[in-house]
This record gives sequence, structure tokens and C-alpha cells, in this order.
Amino acid sequence: MTAETMSDGDGYSRELWLNAVAAALGLTYSAYRQLRAARTLPPGPWGVPFLGYAPFLSNHCTYLKYNELARRYGPICSFTQRGNTVILLSDHKLIKTAFDMKQITGRPNDGYMDIIGGYGAVNSTGKLWESQRKFLHLVLRHMGMTFTGHNRLNMENRIMIEVSTLTETFHKTCGKPIDLNAGSLCLAITNVISSLTMSVRFEPNDPRFERYMHMVDEGFKLFGMLRPVSLFLPRRHITDERNIQEKIKNNHQEIAKYFQSIIEEHRSTFDPNSIRDLVDAYLLEIKRSQEAGTMDQLFQGLDPNRQVQQILGDLFSAGMETIKNTILWAMVYMLHYPDVMTKVQDEIDSVVGQYKSPVLDDYPNLPYTQATLYEVLRKSSITPLGTTHATTSDVTLNGYHIPTGAQIIPLQHFVHNDPNLWDEPEAFKPERFINAEGKVKKPDCFLPFGVGRRKCLGETLAQMELYLFFSTLLHEFDVCLPDGDELPSMDGQVGITLTPQSFKVVMKARNK
Ligand code: HEM
Repeated sequence: MTAETMSDGDGYSRELWLNAVAAALGLTYSAYRQLRAARTLPPGPWGVPFLGYAPFLSNHCTYLKYNELARRYGPICSFTQRGNTVILLSDHKLIKTAFDMKQITGRPNDGYMDIIGGYGAVNSTGKLWESQRKFLHLVLRHMGMTFTGHNRLNMENRIMIEVSTLTETFHKTCGKPIDLNAGSLCLAITNVISSLTMSVRFEPNDPRFERYMHMVDEGFKLFGMLRPVSLFLPRRHITDERNIQEKIKNNHQEIAKYFQSIIEEHRSTFDPNSIRDLVDAYLLEIKRSQEAGTMDQLFQGLDPNRQVQQILGDLFSAGMETIKNTILWAMVYMLHYPDVMTKVQDEIDSVVGQYKSPVLDDYPNLPYTQATLYEVLRKSSITPLGTTHATTSDVTLNGYHIPTGAQIIPLQHFVHNDPNLWDEPEAFKPERFINAEGKVKKPDCFLPFGVGRRKCLGETLAQMELYLFFSTLLHEFDVCLPDGDELPSMDGQVGITLTPQSFKVVMKARNK
């Protein structure tokens, strides 16, 4: 052995030794932090150093694993995951208490947050989120997102244009099996939100629509992949994570470019006395702020173009998949429970009449139809884990100390299936939402739109759309299973929302 190889060997063993010491120190510190936190945090499972509980969570159906933890540890439970504290809430009263607290209105600071840079409404926090929520509420209400005001007729007309186009398309299918998840339903729902926000209505086979949907769809899939990958530390996954993040970023930039072209088009034809849509409402806000010299305060000094782009993206992603999937689930349940479908149709026929289409004014007089939609929302629980919140400062919840930056997850699917709250939760029973006087009741443990300060901003719009699409479809068609097909599964596919597995229906025109 030469002196040179001897010294190489010495260097190597010194490096190994140093690594071992660093690892031991790291493990001790991680165990110390876990022990110290365990004294004040809610009960929960132990994890392994550094990774916490992450290795025990499967990439698939995380919500079912969380439900299991809730059953084992009770209404508030915690674990760590890659150094982050995660709190699971499975009691609806506790979820309400937590989500009413200002300190729990944050959003997790994850990889996606880096990409969107804190812009928008769904993932923004603090003053920007507060001001945007207020502004959007105001504008959307003005545009007709209300069941009571006069402006509701504008929103109703906007939605009914899309409902009528959809039913016309279904009539043309002449009883042939159709895949509802592909094409016309998606186009109709996209057109409601895109006409409202940017006065764009796509035609079938419009390449812009196809490209746009492709990017959104891919974005959802990639986003779904990003979170599970980032749970696991091994180095090979870090590269995967970077690749996914890079793809999301490119995708996000392409969509942003499309939105920017829409903003520019609006700028060139902008008339402050005639506000056409949400983009115009933002342009007016920007104009007023420029004139008042307060641009440094508007959007907390952030880039106005990026803010408008992100708002368009937010409303689209929050308001399209959710509605589409709820209608798809409604169709799945109608196939499984044709007696419910008949009861809805009978109610509409007797209240609205056979030859007139249901309108918003009929809504309060159609309790069974409304209750059926509630039962669809409960049973499908398309957002089984709601949307994750984060603490913006240390907070005490149910006697436990929750640190700043902790992720708070409401177990909506658990609450909607809790046998202590619902009689036979696995059954599909719209009657559970109807009281002794035959009126619709909405129990506190029914939270498809979330609760508290960040509850769904588009809830009223969602209810208007769900009602108008669902009631018109059932009024005009029997939803039937194609000959020889099996009933679709009632287990959802996990993505950003729970989606029914692919299925076909025959929309058979009713003999009226
Ligand atoms: C069936 C339809 C829908 C369901 C089930 C649903 C559900 C939800 C849920 C669970 C949240 C999270 C609440 C939280 O953070 O605690 C949310 C947030 C939100 N939803 Fe919806 N939503 C629906 C439709 C819509 C529509 C049509 C719009 C369009 C305007 C919309 C806009 C939003 C926005 C902007 C937020 C973020 C609110 C915030 O962070 O302050 N949603 N929604």
C-alpha cells in the first residue's frame, strides 16, 4: 500500500465518520423536536426521524388513511411530515371553530405556492386574500351570483344558454351511449365560468378550448403528483419533484400567456361605463387605483397583470372541475337509484309543469330535487379533504398548542360518512335532508363547501349551476345505462377532486 492510497483511505474513513456523527446529531435533534412537540400537540402516530409519518401514507387514497387516523386518535390528531406539523380535524364543530379563526386562514407554503408566487384568491393569504375575497364577492354578486337580488336573472340567463346548448347536443345523440366526461358537458360548464370571467364562449372542437383543457387537465394531474412525491425524501424523488415542478411551471406560464392575451384584448376595447365581465371589473379597479396614485397598495404592490391572470386561473380551476364532477356523480347515482330519478322528475313535472323548463324561481318549491343534490354532494364528497389551511401564527385549538405554519386538514369525507351523524351514511337517501314539514334542512355537519372565513366563495353560483343543469337534464331526459354495460362504480378516482370512474349513459328523451 502506498502512502497516497493510505491517505485516501484515511480521508474516506474520516468523511464516513463525520457523516455518521452528522446523521446521529440530526436523528437526535429530530427525535428531540418530535418529543418536545408531542407534549403540546394533539395525539397522533409517531413517524421516523426527518420524514415523520410520510412513509406510512400511501400516494393513493390518502383521505382513507386519514379517516383511519381519525378513528384511532379522535377528533383532532397530529403528525409530522418532512418537518411540517399536520393537524387532522374530523369533528365538524371543531372544524368550524378552527376555520372561523383568523390565525387559521393561511395556506401551506408548498412547491405549488412557489410557482404561483402568492397571487390570486385561492392560495393567497393575509391582506391580499382578504381584499380579493371581498372584491370578488362584490363583483360576482353584482353579476348575479345571488338567489334574491334582481341581478340573478343575468346569471340565470348566462347559465341557461349553456344548459340549452347541452340539452340540444344530447337530443342529437338520439339515444346513443355517450361519455359525459368527454366533450359537451365539460364545454358547457367551462363556458359558464369563462363567459362570466372573460366573455369567452368556446365552440365544440375549438382548438383553443382543447389546448386549454389539456393544459388544465395536465396541470391537475401534475399537481396531484407533486404532493405525494414531495412526501418522500430519497434523492431520486427529489429529481422527479423538480421535473414535475418544472412542468407545472411551463404549463402555468402557457396558461398565463393565454390569460394575458385576453387581458390585452379587454384593455383595447375597455369602456369604464360598460363593464362586461370580471376582467373589466379588474381593469376598472386598476384604472381607479392608477388615477388615485395608490398602485402600491392595490394587490399589496404585486404585479396587477399577474394578479388578474391568477384570478382567472383560480376561478376556472375552483369552478369547473367541481361542478362537472358533481354532475357526473349525480348521473352515477341516478343510474344506481332510478327510483330517486323518478321522484325528482315527478316533482319537477308537478311543480314546474311538463312543458316548461325549471327556472331559479322554482328552486324553493322543489325540495326533493334540492335534497337530492345535497345527497349527491354529501355522498360524493368530491373534496374529501376540503382544502388545506395553514396557521399564520401560533394558536391554541381545543387546548393544544399548534405552531405557526402547521397544515390544518378538514376531513370532510369522514364527517360526511360518520355513522354518529348520519343514519346509514353509505346509503343514498335524499330524504335525510328533508324535515317533518317537507322543507329542506341543512345540518351543520354538511360541509361540502367548507366552513368559516375561507368557505367556498362560489357556493351560490355552484348551487345555481347544479340546480339548473341537473333539473333541466332530468326534466328532459331519462338517464339510462347502455345495453350490456355494468353500473358504474361508486368508488371515486383520486385526483384534485374525487372523480367517478369512466362510464357511459344513454340520455333518452322523455315522452312528455
Ligand atoms: C360543487 C361545486 C363546488 C364545491 C363542492 C366547492 C368546494 C369548495 C371548498 C371545499 C373550498 C375550500 C374552502 C376552504 O378553504 O376551507 C372552496 C373554495 C373556493 N371555491 Fe369552491 N366549490 C365549488 C364550486 C365553486 C365555484 C363554481 C366557484 C367559482 C366562483 C368556486 C370558487 C371558490 C374559491 C374562489 C375558493 C377559495 C376561497 C378562499 O380561499 O377564500 N367554487 N370551494
